[in-house]
Parts: sequence; C-alpha cells; structure tokens
Amino acid sequence: MATVVLKNVKKIYPGSTEPAVHDFNLSIADKEFIVFVGPSGCGKSTTLRMVAGLEDISEGTVEIDGEVVNDLQPKDRGISMVFQNYALYPHLTVYENMAFPLRLLRNPKMSNDEIYERVTNAAKILGITQYLTRKPKNLSGGQRQRVAIGRAMVRDSKVFLMDEPLSNLDAKLRNQMRAEIILLRQRIQTTFIYVTHDQTEAMTLGDRIVIMKDGFIMQVGSPTEVFDRPGNLFVAEFIGAPKMNTFMAKLVKDEKDYHVECFGEKIPVTGEKARELSEKGIGTQTIVLGIRPEHMVFSEEPKPGYIPVEVVVNEMMGSEVHLHVTTPEVPEGAYDTLTEAEARSRDFADEQLLLPGGKKELIIRIQTINLTDKQRAEFVPGKKLYLSAESRVMHFFNYQKGKLKTNLLYGPGAEAEASLAN
Ligand SMILES: Nc1ncnc2c1ncn2[C@@H]1O[C@H](COP(=O)(O)OP(=O)(O)OP(=O)(O)O)[C@@H](O)[C@H]1O
Ligand SMILES: [Mg+2]
Repeated sequence: MATVVLKNVKKIYPGSTEPAVHDFNLSIADKEFIVFVGPSGCGKSTTLRMVAGLEDISEGTVEIDGEVVNDLQPKDRGISMVFQNYALYPHLTVYENMAFPLRLLRNPKMSNDEIYERVTNAAKILGITQYLTRKPKNLSGGQRQRVAIGRAMVRDSKVFLMDEPLSNLDAKLRNQMRAEIILLRQRIQTTFIYVTHDQTEAMTLGDRIVIMKDGFIMQVGSPTEVFDRPGNLFVAEFIGAPKMNTFMAKLVKDEKDYHVECFGEKIPVTGEKARELSEKGIGTQTIVLGIRPEHMVFSEEPKPGYIPVEVVVNEMMGSEVHLHVTTPEVPEGAYDTLTEAEARSRDFADEQLLLPGGKKELIIRIQTINLTDKQRAEFVPGKKLYLSAESRVMHFFNYQKGKLKTNLLYGPGAEAEASLAN
C-alpha cells in the first residue's frame, strides 16, 4: 500500500543519444491500478524497471510511499514484480517456488508456519491449491503464470509491478487471466503498475492509462477519458479496435452551427459539439476528422450529408460485420491550407491521411443482428453505401503538417503536456 511519484524521470542508456524516456511525471495514488501502454520500444519496461530499481534513473526521482528510492536496492523498495518470462525453478515444487522469496528473508527469518500460511493463502486466491506438490513442467501456461503471480504475492509489498505478464499465453487464457487479475486486485488491495502493449488489457484493467510513444507520455486518463476524449491523433488511433477512421476534412463555421466538408459532402455539426467548438472560438479550418468504425451510420440510398462509398471487403466476425469501404476521390483544392505540392509531398503521404485525387479506406462496424437477411447477402464487394455520423461521435484534430495532431477540444492531461513540451 503506497503512493508512487515519478518526478522528471529520464532515462538515457549508455552509448545512446536519444533518451529512452523523456521527462516522465506521474503521481500514482495508493491502491491505484495504473497501466503503461504503447507500441514496442516506447519506454514502458524502462520506466517500470526504474521504479523497480533494476535500471538506473538518469535524471529525476522516484518516490515510493513518500521516500525517494533512487539509491535503494530493488529488495529494499517494497515492491513485487512479475515478468513476461516468469522463470520458475524447474526442480522445485509449486509450493517451494512460491515459498522461495520468503525463505530468503533475514532478520527476522520467517517461520515455516508463517510461510505455510502465506503460500496456502495465495494459492487459494489464485485457485492453484491442488497443484502445490507438482513441478512447473507439469502445469499449463496459465497455471505457471499463476504460480509466478503467487510468488510475487506472498511478500508484503507496497507496489505490485507487472511487465506483460500475460503475453506468453494464448488468446483464451489471456482473457481468463485478465479477469483473474481484476479479481486479484480486488482481494489484495495494493498499488499496481502494469505494462502491456495490448490496448484491450489497458482498457479493462486500468483505473488510469498512461499512453506512451517514443519515450513521451501522449495522454494520461481513465479508460473512458482516453476513448471518448483522445488528446491527439496518436491516442485516437491507438485506443479502440478496429482503429478510428481518420481523414482530412474542412471544418466550417456557419452562422449558428458548424459543418464538416469531406469527399464532396457536407455533414452537419450541431448540438453540444457545436457549442463546445464555438465556446473555444474555433473557426473555419482544415482538420483531421476522426470517427470510430462503430459510430458510423449507413444508408442504402443517397442522402444529403452521407458520403458515397463502395464495399471492398466484408469481414464477418459473428456478432458483428466489419465492412471495409473506399471513399470517392477527394476534389482538388478541398483543403485550403494545403497546396497541391504539399499535399503530394512524401512527408504528407507518410502521415497516411489523404491526398487530393486520392481515396481513403474506411471501416464501418455493424451489429449483425441489426442487418436483414437481404442486407447480409448484399453487403459484399461492389455494393454502394452512404455513410455519415452524428456530431457527438466526431473527433476534431488540429491539422499541422509534420506535427502532432492535437484534439481541438480536449487536452491530453497535464502529465502529457509536460512530457510533450520538451
Ligand atoms: N539495455 C538497453 N540498452 C540500450 N537501449 C535500450 C536498452 N533497453 C532498452 N533500450 C531502448 O530503449 C527504448 C525503450 O525500450 P523499452 O524496453 O522500455 O520499450 P518497451 O516499451 O518496453 O517495448 P516492448 O513493448 O517491446 O517491451 C527502446 O528504443 C530500446 O531499444
Ligand atoms: Mg517491454
């Protein structure tokens, strides 16, 4: 049970010029479950290992329970850690594997009765009591993973650190263990820092999620905040699967409300969203518009405010259908802040947005139960559909060439702002 505070924490590995972690600031509350998530190489493990004491801190401080721990050995920091490669001792039974860290304790030494009590208690919580006498090789992957978690649980730790503990497991087991970690968390009331590259794990486990990229914090927020109010295009595309549709559009301020122009159509922006835009004094400009696949609506007939598209792939997922569609070509000169040369430059193309004269592939996600039999049969490659979205599901990003595209309405949180300011 403890708070963890990282202040201006930086990591530069010997021999490298770019920091692996830039100016990382975060206050973790007692008993909070924090998840670090981001693509490979973004600095998640490095940050966790600096908290654990397995990696030197180049600059800044880490405090656990109000005490700066920079110079403390891992064993003196009051932490427990579970790794992806949970090396169990093959020649020891499950019981002895779990008892191992307790047998190492000195002054005072722990009594056998106390060890027995703790190991059996942890085994009960994890549902592995019947395997205590087995050797690890006679266990399934999920059971071994539970032993590794049990081994970390038996100690009195203030903070529980986990680095991709489920990534060795198959999809089904991973889902099951994810639910078990939620239960575990309810039973052992302690502070957790959990590292994963899987956004589903991050969303389901975290009280707050820290989304990282290239050693920077891109956003810190609750699962709902980062999903509903992504502070920038990176977070918008990282959280949610299939990823958010994003494309160039023009946001136009009308007398009362707004509308967006894209693919030659005008989609109205009204209500709460229009009010928020207006309150921020946002005027007519080129933007990146984001709409999640599950938030798009379709019509089979042309309608004003609906973009005509053509189905190219139909992925039947059972309970839902993912339709990949292509848009019409973008009219030349559609976005007034871009010259044609800019729009065609490699820089711009690399951002995978949209070139004048180009088409964009979008995904729309439809609940199968909402489709008629006729529609199920007809929504195949070549089918023409018309897509739109309500104002409240639209995300508006500032279009700045070669720069991070920030949300016009919502910030990424103070921690990300501090990180990105450098
Ligand atoms: N011991 C090391 N020496 C030098 N550079 C390192 C070392 N360990 C990691 N790095 C670099 O630091 C950066 C961050 O690495 P880190 O392991 O923290 O990423 P990660 O987010 O945990 O990625 P993954 O999801 O692949 O585990 C990477 O660019 C990596 O190459
Ligand atoms: Mg890692």
